[in-house]
Amino acid sequence: MKVLGIESSCDECAVALVENGSKILSSVIHSQISAHRPFDGVVPELASRLHVETIVPVYRQALKEAGVTSREIDAIAVTNRPGLIGSLLVGVSFAKALSFSLGKPLLGVDHILAHLYAPHLEGKLEYPHIGLLVSGGHTLITMVRSFDEVEVLGTTIDDAVGEAFDKVAKHYGLGYPGGEAVDDLSRSGDPLAYKFPHSRLDKGNHPWDFSYSGLKTAVINQSEKFLQPGKVASLENLCASFQKAAIDVLWNKIRLLVVSTGVRRVVAGGGVAANSYLRSLVNAQPGWNVYFPSLALCSDNAAMIAGWAWGALSRGDRSPLDLNAESRVARFKRKYP
Ligand code: KG4
Ligand code: ZN
Repeated sequence: MKVLGIESSCDECAVALVENGSKILSSVIHSQISAHRPFDGVVPELASRLHVETIVPVYRQALKEAGVTSREIDAIAVTNRPGLIGSLLVGVSFAKALSFSLGKPLLGVDHILAHLYAPHLEGKLEYPHIGLLVSGGHTLITMVRSFDEVEVLGTTIDDAVGEAFDKVAKHYGLGYPGGEAVDDLSRSGDPLAYKFPHSRLDKGNHPWDFSYSGLKTAVINQSEKFLQPGKVASLENLCASFQKAAIDVLWNKIRLLVVSTGVRRVVAGGGVAANSYLRSLVNAQPGWNVYFPSLALCSDNAAMIAGWAWGALSRGDRSPLDLNAESRVARFKRKYP
């Protein structure tokens, strides 16, 4: 089954063709980063206008690269939640028009489930596994029991981890998006130069939740207060210490979850999964099976949408032509230990 995937939830306009949930025939991604950069962040209105301009050429390119005609598409899958509502609507409207005109089934796909599915496009993967989704918009730690059964154990109560990287980078003039720049500078910095606060939500009813706004404020407004005796105040040291604090919080929860559940398979997705410090910590664990997708599949793409949809389409799931877009994460089971 050849599924066409469409992704327009944020600032990437992407279309892909994937066969039987695993073979990527084409994956075209048009990034809007250069258009949003002057504003140091994604401007929602600009994002939706750019999606309108690029979705047709991106679709044509995806067909061309796959060597497939529109008639050979078996089904159309589109991200319909969560994301920027105006941007989502562009992809959803385009998908509906294609579905109607080609007479092919339509399926709305949850962006979060699709991110957690991405490693399946690069190899075999067993369930259950711990799923970490860390991006500019999301910070989730989950137990993934099947492609559509994901238990959200914890999420951020304020900023997403990637957002914290971006805001720190913006404040110190490192450009947008800033995660990669912070990661790069950290390589020549001392992670112990500053002792930034770790959020402590590990007590009470929500032990797996995250909070990043306190750390962000400390790094932006009060960094001198956390400089350790005998250490030098430098941007490299600041980045390395911030990165350590931000990633150690994620890492401590992953480690605790592995110990408390005995599940040693860990999957990560989202732009922050590209972080070199996070990767080095997780990869250094003997006896763990770690699946971090390649960088192109970590960040937003449509191959993960088409890939995820295959399982649901195969068992007969369909969306009606009045499918709507939803800005928020909607329908996960959320249970605390
Ligand atoms: O998944 P993604 O491409 O887009 C969404 O947010 O949906 O993730 C982008 C985020 C940005 O916040 C960016 O700063 C962060 O991922 N990022 C990183 C790294 N590369 C990208 N954060 C930390 N270290 C990196 N190497
Ligand atoms: Zn994403």
